[in-house]
Amino acid sequence: MKSFINVEDLGPLDKAMAEAFEIKNDRFKYQHLGKNKTLMMIFFNNSLRTRLSTQKAAMNLGMNVIVLDVNAGAWKLETERGVIMDGDKSEHLLEAIPVMGCYCDMIGVRSFAGLTDREYDYAETVLQQFIKYSGRPVFAMETATVHPLQAFADLITIEEHKVVERPKVVLTWAPHCRALPQAVPNSFAQWMNAAPDVDLVITHPEGYELDPKFVGNARVEYDQKKAFEGADFIYAKNWSNPGVTNPADYGKITCNDMSWTVDTEHMSWTNNGKFMHCLPVRRNLIVTDDVIESPNSLVIPEAANREISCSVVIKRMLENL
Ligand code: CP
Repeated sequence: MKSFINVEDLGPLDKAMAEAFEIKNDRFKYQHLGKNKTLMMIFFNNSLRTRLSTQKAAMNLGMNVIVLDVNAGAWKLETERGVIMDGDKSEHLLEAIPVMGCYCDMIGVRSFAGLTDREYDYAETVLQQFIKYSGRPVFAMETATVHPLQAFADLITIEEHKVVERPKVVLTWAPHCRALPQAVPNSFAQWMNAAPDVDLVITHPEGYELDPKFVGNARVEYDQKKAFEGADFIYAKNWSNPGVTNPADYGKITCNDMSWTVDTEHMSWTNNGKFMHCLPVRRNLIVTDDVIESPNSLVIPEAANREISCSVVIKRMLENL
């Protein structure tokens, strides 16, 4: 596996899931694979879970790890060609990337959407430059449009906690005070669509339609109560307007309806549903204290499974070096 961006990159999902549970049972089974190999993690944006779980996964596999926070200690990087670099950016990404590639065997990249230019974001311009110029296998640690390590961990968590063969899984928009990217809901939808035994429903205010390539065959229900009825899992997430129905709205907050906040009444509509969120979460905007602290909340097991999803991805890349 030379790059990890989409669910298809893993090949058959049942095999990847089996590998995940194998690694969860014995986290150090493949420790020999990473001997004398180095992972470089590049962060253009903040992180808690991705930073810690990816480093832990790499260490479980015997790797050395280098972490670079581009905006804290490195030269500021220009990402556009043709720019006269007379501002505060001292180095161009097109030199920096191959240099980074000299010092490692594999690269993880976190680079969020700018949310001003939909075409630029959805082309995954920064990630694609790493793939093209680093000379190393590259995996997404949340990029402009996808967060596959999170979605893989979410699928593992659902598999562990489901009580029916084909659970109803509801991805629900919820309000937020800042404009957030669509990477998490995009990947969540993509991975749930790829899973053979998931009944996926997506609910959001009208105008917040996700890109059709991620929605796939999922049912979209604008009535949140109807969507929640009989749900086995509620996956809450805010996203800014994807600009699908109105391109001028891309990256904006066009709804702040607090009736979409997931509270105990919302959860009472479900089939004793489990609550999920990728974290970090702003309480009492996305979800109330009562719901996130309830026994049905899976936010901590989800975060724990980030170590497992990442272990599978790094293992696959090590096997192909
Ligand atoms: N869920 C997730 O990716 O968390 P971080 O942003 O803290 O890495």
